[in-house]
Amino acid sequence: MTDESSRTVISAKGLTRTYQLGDSEVIGISQIDLDIAAGELVVLKGNSGSGKSTLLSLLAGLDRPTGGELMVARHDLNHASDIQLTQFRRQVVGMVFQSFNLLPTLNALENVCLPALLAGKSLVETRPKAMELLRWLEIEDRLHHLPAQLSGGEMQRTAIARALINDPAIILADEPTGNLDSRNGQIVMDLLAELNRKWNRTVLIATHSTLADQMASVRMGLKDGMITSFA
Ligand SMILES: Nc1ncnc2c1ncn2[C@@H]1O[C@H](COP(=O)(O)OP(=O)(O)O)[C@@H](O)[C@H]1O
Ligand SMILES: [Mg+2]
Repeated sequence: MTDESSRTVISAKGLTRTYQLGDSEVIGISQIDLDIAAGELVVLKGNSGSGKSTLLSLLAGLDRPTGGELMVARHDLNHASDIQLTQFRRQVVGMVFQSFNLLPTLNALENVCLPALLAGKSLVETRPKAMELLRWLEIEDRLHHLPAQLSGGEMQRTAIARALINDPAIILADEPTGNLDSRNGQIVMDLLAELNRKWNRTVLIATHSTLADQMASVRMGLKDGMITSFA
């Protein structure tokens, strides 16, 4: 393997996801060719319905392509079994969503620990790590609060800790500031940038916000499921 290809962490060729709705076919994304090197911070822009969430779901192994090839961190996601895909989701990627997606009956600490426990790690090794992440995110005084008792900014920081608990190489954030005020939006974007810069994670952020424009190393535009710009 050449140096060039070993640095490539995400590689797509003709990547396509269509949805069948009755007799008609809806295009999620269509024929996307993409190469992203490890350590990039990619900001993904595009109007609502342009395919951002579809693309991120495929990269996260939450969904499967209907066409094309997709390699993420040397995992062939198009041909992976369900078990391989589940392992991939737990070990390789961390996802952050607009609506936080925390489990309402678990407190902040438990939400953060859960992906590690599901991956077979013990609570004894997971708990200190979760505490350390929550300390770094400055929410260590909210450990035993339920999501409903947290502010939006605190919920999203908890979700970021959860995304990091299994040490993923890639962080995928889908409109992570969509439900936050501008101050908390800035905090969340700064945290994602810090993960990229200091911790050397590859980060992809789909966002309407201009908050991430400055920090991007790659700017990608989507329209009608196709890439319109990549620089
Ligand atoms: N589960 C689904 N079933 C049918 N169509 C879908 C589904 N998910 C997304 N789509 C369609 O795929 C296109 C891209 O959607 P999406 O990826 O959610 O865009 P974005 O995140 O940029 O708003 C839209 O036309 C949307 O309606
Ligand atoms: Mg979306």
